[in-house]
Order: sequence, then structure tokens, then C-alpha cells
Amino acid sequence: MWKGRFTKPTSALVQRYGESMSFDHRLYAHDIWGSIAHAKALTKAGILTAKEFQAIEKGLLEIKADIDAGKFIWREELEDVHMNIESALTRRIGAPGAKLHTARSRNDQVATDTRLWCRDEIDSVVKLARDLQRSLVECASHHEQIVMPGYTHLQRAQPVLFAHHLLAYVEMLARDTDRFADTRKRLNVLPLGSGAIAGSTIIVDRSFVAKELGFDGVSQNSMDAVSDRDFIAELLFVIALTGVHLSRLSEDIILWASAEFGFITLSDAHTTGSSLMPQKKNPDVAELTRGKSGRLVGNLMSLLTTLKGLPMTYNRDLQEDKEPLFDSVDTIKLALEVFAEMIRGLEVNVAKTQAAASDPMLLATDLADYLVNHGVPFREAHEVIGKIVAHSVKTKRALNEFSADDYRKFSKAFGKDVGNVLKIDTALSKRKSTGAPSPANVATRLKYWQKVLSQD
Ligand code: ARG
Repeated sequence: MWKGRFTKPTSALVQRYGESMSFDHRLYAHDIWGSIAHAKALTKAGILTAKEFQAIEKGLLEIKADIDAGKFIWREELEDVHMNIESALTRRIGAPGAKLHTARSRNDQVATDTRLWCRDEIDSVVKLARDLQRSLVECASHHEQIVMPGYTHLQRAQPVLFAHHLLAYVEMLARDTDRFADTRKRLNVLPLGSGAIAGSTIIVDRSFVAKELGFDGVSQNSMDAVSDRDFIAELLFVIALTGVHLSRLSEDIILWASAEFGFITLSDAHTTGSSLMPQKKNPDVAELTRGKSGRLVGNLMSLLTTLKGLPMTYNRDLQEDKEPLFDSVDTIKLALEVFAEMIRGLEVNVAKTQAAASDPMLLATDLADYLVNHGVPFREAHEVIGKIVAHSVKTKRALNEFSADDYRKFSKAFGKDVGNVLKIDTALSKRKSTGAPSPANVATRLKYWQKVLSQD
């Protein structure tokens, strides 16, 4: 492509080192779409005749069909997807093909292709994230009444509904899908027409191209447009954060599936055995997802580090954006999909969750609240209950084994009805401030999500 300037061919080693075709071939459909729109604009600008345009469009569509069918021969020496397609076009249709690259550079071309690719992938990722949300909502609604301990510091804290715990992840994923939508909005701007760095002396109608390709607008600074990879960094961040959310859910699932917790049983279909220990049933899907979140964070770091020292404008370093991008997108899509399947296959062991939730210590805060309702300042109430808890631990008698008189030894504010505080159902239904896990609240939120998630 640059034979005019050079007298020696590129060394074979440099070709191998610099080629991106082996991975950026994934941009072919968007590259072809972008080229057709560009050719249309060149026709409008009087650079191509209608006949030449038709030849280009037909040739590009045939190339696309060949690639779709796996019949296209990719050539490493042509470096990347852009040059592979352009050179195939010229081989196929002759002279008009050689006019396609007018007023365009691979710098604005690759930026355009990548934005188009990201836009489609974001749409797929959001669909998968919503399906995972749906699977969590289904699981929550099948187990709406199940109580379990809520944990802080992985120590039993206060009772919650299992459904409330699952819905926490539905909320996280909703923020993630919002972030994807926001990223999509910001990246949906056309860079094509920025040329290599300074646009072109040949004027094409950029707004027309933007419309053809479904962009909301055109970039306003050619130098920024060819060197900007913010949109990839942003997408990698949103993917990494989604991965981190899945990793936290993984950790919950791994704990819950352990014999020590025993809250859930994962389906055989989503676990693996051990080659040595016949009894093992391992939560590999959750472990892999927890592990892969490291890669997602790494891909974000990799791109940010690549970008950090780059002078304006395009530098070949930018070719390093694609492998982390492709890897993160592939990884999160598969993780979201397999997670939804795993959630749909899990069983909750009601006896175990119920047994754990009936630990009266979970209601120690409720005892303090009881005192507050009887006029004791909270700090004082906290201390009184602290002493009762210490007494319970020391005497090995549970909080619900103490009589009202036992309680009155610690504070005269306790009445005969103190035993009612230690009833888990009452305790849960009292937690009715917005966002708290009273069964009524959880039911409302479940209905909300069922409605929202049925809308696609
Ligand atoms: N394969 C290149 C990339 O992904 C395309 C742009 C090449 N531009 C250039 N001036 N070498 O960055």
C-alpha cells in the first residue's frame, strides 16, 4: 500500500510483529458497512460515479458474503482487516476499488469500525445482563419467604430475606446496564472524515455518513477523533465493574454451596467433580468467574497504561487496544450467560437457611431498639444489650432462653413482652423503611423488577 516510498519490502519478522489481521478481522462487517457509507458520500461529493459506487458496493457485499462463509483468504502481509478488504476489493473490481480510500485514512477508519463494533456488542452485553437479572428475580420469587442471616465482616449480623440478598445483585446489574447505555451514548459519534489527523481537502458530507451508520453526530476535532480511545477505556471499565459484581456474587455462591453454610445446592450441570476425591462437587463456574474478573480489570489497566504516555495523535501503540477489548467483551458475555444458567439451576436448602436464621443473636439490635422504644438512649441500650450478649456467651444460654425477669436484671425498661422481640417473622416485618428487607418491601421490589425486566 505504501510501495511508492519504499525500496525494500517489510521484513517477515516485522510483518508478523505488526499484523493485527489475526484478531481485528472481527471488525470486518463494520469495516464494510463503513466503507459503503464512505463510498456513498464520495459519490455525493462527485469523486465516484454512480457506476463506480455500484461496483464498490457489490464488491464489498460479495467480500462480506465470502468472509461470512469462511471462504475469504486473509493475508498477514496485508497487515490488518482494513487493508485485507480494500485490496481484495481492488483485485475483484479493479479501478473503482482504488478510489475508495479517498479522503480517508486507516486512522479514522479503525476508530469508526471499533465504535460501530462496540455499539453492537454493548447491545448484546446489556441483553445478557438483563437475562441474568431475570434469572435472579426468578430465583428470588421462587424463594420469597426464605429467611437467612445477613452478614457483615462475614459474621452474622441481622436477618434478611434470601430474595433481598439476590435482589441486591439485581440493583448492581441495573446500574451496570445504565453505565453500558451511557457509554454507548458517548461513543456514538462518527470519527470518519478526520482522515489521518487533519481531515481532508476533499470535502465529504460527514453528517450524511453519520446518519448512514446510525451515529448521533460527528466528531468536532480531527486530532482528538483519531487518537481517542476513551470509549474503549470506558467500556472496559464498565465490563470490569460488572465482572467485579459477578465476582462478589461468585464468592457468595461458593460460600453458600460449602458444607459449612449449605444454603444452596448447585446443579450437577454447573459443577465439576474431582479426579481424586469422589465426594467432591466443586463450584467451578463461580470460581472461574471470580478469577476472570481479574483479567477484566487487567484489560482495563492494560489499555489505560497504553494510552497514558501517547503524544497526539495516532500512534501504532493504539493497535494494542483491540485484544483487551475483544477479550473483555467475550469474557463478560460468556460469564453473564453461564451465570444466568447456573442461577436457574440452583436449589435452596430451606432447612439450612432457616436454622442459620434462627440464631437469636441476629436480633440483638432489635433488643436495643426495644429499649429505645421504651425511652432508653441508643448508646445506653447498646451497652445493656452488649452485657446481655456477653452473659449469654458466658452462660451458654441463648438470648431466647432468658425470661423477662432475667432481662429486667439488666434494665428496668424491659417489660413482659420482651420475648416477642426475638420472633424472627415479627423482626423482619418491622424492617419496613424503604430498602429494608420486610417481606412486604421485598415483594414490592420483586414485582417492580418483574415488570421492568419483562419489557424486552
Ligand atoms: N491496524 C491499525 C490499528 O488497529 C489500523 C490503523 C493503522 N494506521 C496506521 N497509520 N498504521 O491501529
